[in-house]
Amino acid sequence: MDGTKYFAIAEDGGARGAETPIVRMDGRVYPGCMLVDARWYIKPVSAKGLVRRASDELLVFVGSDDKNPGSLNAEIRLRIENDVLTLTETCAVFVPGGAASGDFEVVSVDKPVFRYSCLLNSDTSGEAVPAEASAPAGTYAANVVTGYRPPSGKLPDAPEGFLNLLLYLDGVRLPGAPYMETVWFMTPNDTGPAPHGHDFDEFIGFIGTNPDRPEELGAELQFYIGDEAVTVTKSCLVYIPRGVRHSPIIIPKMERPIIHFSGGNGGDYARRGAVSDSNMFNFD
Ligand SMILES: [Fe+2]
Repeated sequence: MDGTKYFAIAEDGGARGAETPIVRMDGRVYPGCMLVDARWYIKPVSAKGLVRRASDELLVFVGSDDKNPGSLNAEIRLRIENDVLTLTETCAVFVPGGAASGDFEVVSVDKPVFRYSCLLNSDTSGEAVPAEASAPAGTYAANVVTGYRPPSGKLPDAPEGFLNLLLYLDGVRLPGAPYMETVWFMTPNDTGPAPHGHDFDEFIGFIGTNPDRPEELGAELQFYIGDEAVTVTKSCLVYIPRGVRHSPIIIPKMERPIIHFSGGNGGDYARRGAVSDSNMFNFD
C-alpha cells in the first residue's frame, strides 16, 4: 500500500501575500475526500458577497502566538445569513449546509492568523452559488466555539508538555456540528495514539508555524498508515477514509511547535460511545 496517496503535501514556491495559501486537499488529490484548505492571513483582506453550499462547512481560525494561543491577535468578521460574527479569539465557526455565508473580512492583523476550512460533504469548492440572507437575525449568532472543553470533561492523555489544547467541537457542543479538535504540538514525541480506524471519514492537518516559510513543517513527523510509516517534513493535510487504520504519530525532531488538527463527518462523536472523546490522543 502507498500511504502517501492519502496526503496533500505543501510545495515550495507558492503564492505569498496578504492571504498566503499553504496546502489544499480536494478531489484532485483524493476523489471523494472532504475538501480542506489551509492558509495564513498576513494583512487585511476582504471578499464581499454571500454564497450558499449544499455541504456543511467548518472554518477554524488560530492565532499564531503559542504563548497566548487563545488570542487571534487580529479581528475577523464574517456573515452567516443575517448574523455578523466578529472574531478576536482562536475559534471554530460552523456553517450548516444551505445557509448563506460570506462578507468575509480580515479587519486588522497584529500577528498572522492561521485558518483552515473544511467542506464536510464535498471534495470541491465549485458548488457554491450566490445567495441572499433570509434567516432571521440571531439564528446563527451562536455558531462559534472557543476553547478545548469536551462535553464529557475528559482531556487527552498525552505526555506532559506535548499538547497545547486549543479547540474541541462536536455535535453535543454545537448541534449539527462535526467532530473537530485543534492543538499545538509543542515538543518531539516518541509515542503516539495507538493504531485505530473509524466508522467515519477523518481529515487531519500538520501545519508549520512560520508564515514566511508556510510549506515547511519545522519538524520531522512519521504518520503510520496501516504498517507503513509516512515521513513528512512539509506542512500537509491527510484524508483518512473510514476503516483505514492509522497512527501512531511520532515526531523524532522539532525545530518549532506545529499546529495539528483533526475532525470527521461523524458528527456526534462523543455520544456514540467512542473509546475516547479524543480520537487522536488515546495514548495507550
Ligand atoms: Fe483517527
